[in-house]
Formats: sequence, C-alpha cells, structure tokens
Amino acid sequence: MSHGEADSSHGMEMTMAQDIHVRPFSPEDLDAATRVFVQAFAGEPWYEDWPSDSARRRIAAIIHAPGFLGVAAFKERDLVGFIVGRIEAYRTEDHFYLQEMCVLPEVQRQGIGKLMLAHLHRRLKAAGCQQIYLLTARESIAERFYRQNGFRPAGRAGVLVARLPDNERPI
Ligand SMILES: CC(C)(COP(=O)(O)OP(=O)(O)OC[C@H]1O[C@@H](n2cnc3c(N)ncnc32)[C@H](O)[C@@H]1OP(=O)(O)O)[C@@H](O)C(=O)NCCC(=O)NCCS
Repeated sequence: MSHGEADSSHGMEMTMAQDIHVRPFSPEDLDAATRVFVQAFAGEPWYEDWPSDSARRRIAAIIHAPGFLGVAAFKERDLVGFIVGRIEAYRTEDHFYLQEMCVLPEVQRQGIGKLMLAHLHRRLKAAGCQQIYLLTARESIAERFYRQNGFRPAGRAGVLVARLPDNERPI
C-alpha cells in the first residue's frame, strides 16, 4: 500500500494520516472551519485574502442550505480539514455539488484530503447519490489533487461569469 492510500478492508482507514479522525461536519465546527478556510485559501494556488467574516458567512450559508452534507477531519481535537456541499436533484439522479474543500497548509500532502473524499463517497453512496461535481482552478495543485482522486473535466459544462459594472446609473 502506498503512502496516503486508503484501506477499508478492515473497516478502518490506514493512511499516513493515521491519527486523523473523520466525521460528519457539525454546525459547531463553523468557527474552526472558518480559520482553516482562511489559511488554506491564503496559500497555493489561490493566494486569496479572505476576511474572516466573509469566510464564515460563506460556510454558514452552505451548511444551512437544503441538501447540505459535509465532513470534517480532526487531528487530536483540532479541525484540520473539511468538505461542505449539497445534494441536488438532477433529472433522475442526485448529484453532490462539492462547494468547498480544504486542509490546513501545515498538514497538507499527508492524505487527509483523500481520506475525507473516501468518507464523503461512503456517505453519498448511502444517500443514493450518483455523481460529484465541483469548480476549481484549471491546471492547479487543486486540479491535480482531484484528478488523482478520479475527477475529470466535464464533457460539456463550462463556467461563465459576468462582472457587474460599478459605474452604471441606477434604474
Ligand atoms: C487540495 C487539498 C484539499 C488537498 O488536500 P491534501 O490533504 O493536501 O491532499 P492529499 O494529501 O490527500 O493529496 C495530496 C495531493 O494533493 C496535491 N497537493 C496538495 N497539496 C499540495 C502542495 N502543497 N503542493 C503540491 N501538490 C499538492 C498533490 O497532487 C498531492 O499529491 P502528491 O503528494 O502525490 O503530489 C489541499 O491541498 C488544500 O486545502 N488546498 C488549498 C485549498 C484548495 O485548493 N481546495 C480545493 C479547491 S476548491
């Protein structure tokens, strides 16, 4: 078994991250998750400056929305990573929109991301979900991580954005 590989054959995961415990995300995890999010997105490949209250509002909105499902990873008693998103109806199927995922920079590359995805897969299978989708930066560390975990670019879907001009006269 290579480093970071999950082994569920004994009903438990053995990875490099052996002292990591993964469980469903709970609303009490919000403050700790906000701290991890701010630190994770300040690093590669994003270098984003997130005010703490914006990060908190973003995560709070996700976890209080219909269809929410999330996982949190702990090292001893400290939250070190999480995934949050929602299950959505899509024609005859249910799809999971993975809205945010991150791991604290000092414990990245230890298999925690992979471990959380394995936990997420089990929960989603049990919930009857058929597919996971997400948005991420093209050709980035994040894309590399997702590709290593079975994700591929969508066949047809693309992302469009429209920036609202700030100098337009009010209607
Ligand atoms: C992407 C992320 C969630 C992966 O979590 P993780 O616990 O580091 O992931 P794992 O240890 O299971 O997998 C490691 C793989 O992720 C990628 N990776 C993670 N951190 C990396 C880093 N600092 N430099 C290069 N590759 C990195 C690599 O592909 C690595 O595989 P390798 O070691 O064989 O090269 C984490 O790096 C992170 O939080 N990044 C910042 C936020 C982010 O990009 N979130 C996802 C985008 S929405």
